[in-house]
Amino acid sequence: MSEETHQLRCTECGARIAGTAVNSIFRCPDCNGLYDVIYPWSPLATSADVASGSNLPNPSALRWLWQERRTSTLPIDQSGVWRFRDLFPIVKNESIVTLREGNTPLYDLPRCAKIAGIDWLLAKHQGMNPTGSFKDTGMTAALSVAAQRGFEWVACASTGNTSAAMAAYAARGGLRSIVFIPEGKIAWGKLSQSMDYGALTIQLKTDFDGCVRVLTDLVTRFPIFLLNSVNPYRLEGQKTPAFEMLEQLEWQVPEHVIVPGGNLANGAALGKGFSEMHHLGLIPRVPKISIIQAEGANPLYRSLQENGGKQLIPVKANTRATAIRIGNPASWRKALRTLNATGGWCEQVTEQEIALAKAEIGAEGVGCEPASAVTFAGLKKLVAQGKITREERVVLVLTGHTLKDSQYTIDYHRNELLTEVEAAGASPLQQAQHAILRKPPVVLEADSDIVLRTLETHMKISSSVLPA
Ligand code: F0G
Repeated sequence: MSEETHQLRCTECGARIAGTAVNSIFRCPDCNGLYDVIYPWSPLATSADVASGSNLPNPSALRWLWQERRTSTLPIDQSGVWRFRDLFPIVKNESIVTLREGNTPLYDLPRCAKIAGIDWLLAKHQGMNPTGSFKDTGMTAALSVAAQRGFEWVACASTGNTSAAMAAYAARGGLRSIVFIPEGKIAWGKLSQSMDYGALTIQLKTDFDGCVRVLTDLVTRFPIFLLNSVNPYRLEGQKTPAFEMLEQLEWQVPEHVIVPGGNLANGAALGKGFSEMHHLGLIPRVPKISIIQAEGANPLYRSLQENGGKQLIPVKANTRATAIRIGNPASWRKALRTLNATGGWCEQVTEQEIALAKAEIGAEGVGCEPASAVTFAGLKKLVAQGKITREERVVLVLTGHTLKDSQYTIDYHRNELLTEVEAAGASPLQQAQHAILRKPPVVLEADSDIVLRTLETHMKISSSVLPA
């Protein structure tokens, strides 16, 4: 498999170029549009492409091959991303840089399902990747392209997870990496990762959108491979959890998949994965993909409300879910295309709703970072609005591990997270739910009698308030 097996197609004007002909900012020189990677068998390929493409993937053969690779000891077969490499032949096998990413669990969340008022709820936990977020699935793909094309330097602007993933994969591949992060606005765990993996970490005195502006200028002046999600190869890796999810569900398609929205690439990546599977006959239909934004970082939601999605209305972003603190998302048109193609919705959720949802997911023993919890908060809203019905099967994509932002969790349990105004915005029911969920640490004398008395009191309280 090599570079010749794919092309890049501009999502705006449809112009097509060879993968190696792309410019350093991954935008069409004629219309500034972003690219999609296409193959002879893509839904967007022409009949000439299809005729020229040999060995088109066969659904039954693919399913068999993907299962077989599970028993292989080859690193690229053990990767839950590259195991599906037949559907994204973008690099030679020898160029692949892998940390055995993917292979993430699909958990059932029966208590959260009950809270939301539906029968069947699963979570695809992408936080269980090597660096603790879904970014690894895209980074292994795009970093491998950088390695194959001979780049020495790679870079990204990030709210923390992309930078952690990039730094790790660059280190594995022997490339050098530069990270741009907004000063003081990312979780410490994520910052520590890029340092640990040896990146040049630059904290800019701006927000994420400001970091993107600086980096976009820099890559036109220095030979750096840009690894933000405008790089379409990222999305090729990020589409593979769609394949893995369907395999885990024995090819039974759920009705809904819900993702958080930040720079708005991930929903589009999964949408591409589902639509390619549909086109190849692996699945009979695609699920609805819905995107949830934080109320303080809601440019797509606002644009849909105010102009039906014709123009993006950038916002000055502010949310404690720092991973999605993005006001001017690059991939908004791709996200919109996914919503329209699958029939999903875009919702927004408040800080208070995010905190509650995160604690509820945590209380199921699963846990996730705040940006991931918007999916569950959004699900509750979509059910309340009648857009998702009780019997429909829903998968939440949990994008980051709970340890990514432990300060948020500690602040929540100590009741130090929300302002008084935000807390007052909670309904009496929500306030009662918070009171049950909060588990601040208890400091006691090292005396077993005291501990026993505390335990008895605790048991009395919890048996009176715990849900059945
Ligand atoms: N969830 C988490 C945990 C994230 O880190 C991000 C994005 C998203 C959701 C949103 O995904 O941007 O594709 O809509 N984080 C980026 C970063 C921006 O730099 O780590 P998206």
